Amino acid sequence: MTTVKNPRFADRTVVVTGGAGGIGRAVCEGFRAEGATTIALDLTGGDLDVDVTDETALREAMGDIHSRHGGPHVLVTLAGGSLGTPRDLDAFTAADVDTVLDVNVKGTLYACRAALPHLRRERGSIVTCASIGGRQPSPVTGIPYATAKAAIGGLTRRLAVEVGGDGVRVNAVAPGLFLTPRLRGMFDGLSDAERASVVDAIALRRMPELDEIVAPILFLASAEASFITGITVDVNGGRFMPL
Ligand SMILES: NC(=O)c1ccc[n+]([C@@H]2O[C@H](COP(=O)([O-])OP(=O)(O)OC[C@H]3O[C@@H](n4cnc5c(N)ncnc54)[C@H](O)[C@@H]3O)[C@@H](O)[C@H]2O)c1
Repeated sequence: MTTVKNPRFADRTVVVTGGAGGIGRAVCEGFRAEGATTIALDLTGGDLDVDVTDETALREAMGDIHSRHGGPHVLVTLAGGSLGTPRDLDAFTAADVDTVLDVNVKGTLYACRAALPHLRRERGSIVTCASIGGRQPSPVTGIPYATAKAAIGGLTRRLAVEVGGDGVRVNAVAPGLFLTPRLRGMFDGLSDAERASVVDAIALRRMPELDEIVAPILFLASAEASFITGITVDVNGGRFMPL
């Protein structure tokens, strides 16, 4: 882990849901490198095992983190994804739809609500996780995922208004395709032509490094973004450019 000269999160406690995942691990490492006490919440493999669909467990986890470490001052909600559910309209079941909406949407809302008593006291910040697949139709992911990730924008804006008066900021990132260890195998398994078509759709004509999603998240969570709230930052190399 590289340490940073002027750490932005010294004496800060940061909670990352989905913190044992591909992006989550990189984000936790980024916060730790900048001085934060960082707690990865995940089903397994994190610092605390918590299911984000269980609001009671989330409240207990936030209380436990507060008594052990202070804060939390920052919440990053990454738990989510398609979660192994089928993409095609005729293939996914009602249970699959529930799974995707429960973890991505309700899990984000419940994590925010559980952290808010602490974030309000600390005038903290939240970074939620949308996706390019919720910003424009994507052939890679299905309708439940697009629905869930589009909902993150509304959640983020509405919550930003609700808590802005307490000095709490709420912003989203919408990543394009980032090759976590899980997705790297899928990408490498594509034909040369398929890989080229993915890269050609990106204005910068290259795939991103994982650090390139970490940096925008840390920026939004930091005091450098002190007058930014309610926005979604597209981090996709120019594959999708909203007006
Ligand atoms: N990797 C990408 O290209 C990409 C692109 C756009 C958006 N995203 C979003 O970024 C976030 C992280 O993605 P990733 O690529 O690191 O995926 P990942 O699967 O590696 O990580 C997701 C993590 O969430 C955890 N999780 C799942 N259900 C949970 C639950 N009920 N409670 C607690 N934790 C739970 C998983 O255990 C996993 O560790 C997701 O929300 C995903 O939709 C990723």
